[in-house]
Amino acid sequence: MQHHAIKSLLILTIFASFLSTANSLFWKKKEFNYSPVIIIPGNGGCRIEAKTVNPKVPTPKCRVSKDWYLIWANIENIDLFAGEYTYGCWEDYIRLQFNRTTGESHSYPGVYTRIPGWGTTETVEYVDPSWLTFLAGNTGAYFSTFVRKLLNIGYERGKSVRAAPYDWRLAPVSHSDYFRRFKELIEDTYEKNGQRKVVLAAHSMGGTYTTYFLRQQTEAWKNKYVRYMLSLNVPYGGATALLWLYASGYNWGINFISAKKVRDEERTYESPAFMMPNDLAWNENDVVIITKDKKYTIKDYEQFFLDINHKDGVKLWQRARVNTTEERIHPGVDIVCIYAHGLPTGSTLDYRRAHFPDEQPSVLHEDGDKTVTTRSMKVCEMWDNHPKYNFELKKFKGIGHNDLLYNEDFYIYLEEMLRLP
Ligand SMILES: *[C@@H]1O[C@H](CO)[C@@H](O)[C@H](O)[C@H]1NC(C)=O
Ligand SMILES: *[C@@H]1O[C@H](CO)[C@@H](O)[C@H](O)[C@H]1NC(C)=O
Repeated sequence: MQHHAIKSLLILTIFASFLSTANSLFWKKKEFNYSPVIIIPGNGGCRIEAKTVNPKVPTPKCRVSKDWYLIWANIENIDLFAGEYTYGCWEDYIRLQFNRTTGESHSYPGVYTRIPGWGTTETVEYVDPSWLTFLAGNTGAYFSTFVRKLLNIGYERGKSVRAAPYDWRLAPVSHSDYFRRFKELIEDTYEKNGQRKVVLAAHSMGGTYTTYFLRQQTEAWKNKYVRYMLSLNVPYGGATALLWLYASGYNWGINFISAKKVRDEERTYESPAFMMPNDLAWNENDVVIITKDKKYTIKDYEQFFLDINHKDGVKLWQRARVNTTEERIHPGVDIVCIYAHGLPTGSTLDYRRAHFPDEQPSVLHEDGDKTVTTRSMKVCEMWDNHPKYNFELKKFKGIGHNDLLYNEDFYIYLEEMLRLP
């Protein structure tokens, strides 16, 4: 009897100890010791949806859709046989119209666009989620690896890793509403994560929008809510590809898209004007465009717009660049600046053997990440040695502009940087 009681007790003890082991193994969550992250994508780096209600567009018989549908990026919009981005009047729906009275740019009347995915990450993970792009070498993927890496170490989509997608056709000056919501998103993320400060992870053009936003916030607000800005291949000094886009049309290296065909629509965007090479990285006598009979520097943009016959270009540019003299001012948070370099990158557009601006130029190269030159990204180094804010610099050699987001060494470094001190 006694023997039996001891045996039961023993079994009970073993069972209890098994339970507690199981508890610690399976039930008790591992301590999550990282900062929450908000992603700010680059140019073209998030989805745009459209709907059309009696659209008044130049092309007759355009497809009409009263339901929201994906207009960017959607490989189905491309007429693969014609090499044109035309399907369903794509270019009429995604282009903007410049209003000479207000200086603002809007869609055509009857065309509505919106940016899906606020506060979560799906629409920056895959900008084009279709199977077709997946089969075409997963070209629609963007922040997918980044988010997956974070999920692997315990992050949760929509809670500790989120995104602030925006209409990348517009310059920061047109984004007061976006910046208001962005501020709320940062505060909300801070609260949802036990009042942990937020890391702002900004790639490419997203970085210049982020510093623009930060300069408008008070020091007290930034101290409370932002741990640091993670600056990833950010073209602070601009990039000549944007001059190319306005002059001749730019297909972003996607060869089956005709650059000249997308030029009309690209010329209506404000963001390229905001991102044209500027005096943070280019000297007054550095040539950004060379033609048979002319040289253009960053002082010649008015002439540039006249010469390419882009009538509203000067006004578009002047408005997009308003108040950007402040760009030398420190954004007022700690900065972790990461950039890739060591690859030949277009820096001067050469039209000496091509008709300017209608034919595609060749390019003169300098060091960079294949898309942005080093001189433009290393502008962040001017924020080193600030008395109040920490600055950390990390360079990755021989990696491309977007390839950084797929690089194993980058993620090893990132995990360390995201861990709480
Ligand atoms: C331009 O903006 C003004 C003021 O908001 C408006 O009255 C006018 O209709 C707009 N013009 C176009 C072509 O949309
Ligand atoms: C530009 O800066 C001035 C002075 O700081 C300010 O009053 C104005 O609102 C700013 N303009 C824009 C469009 O941000």
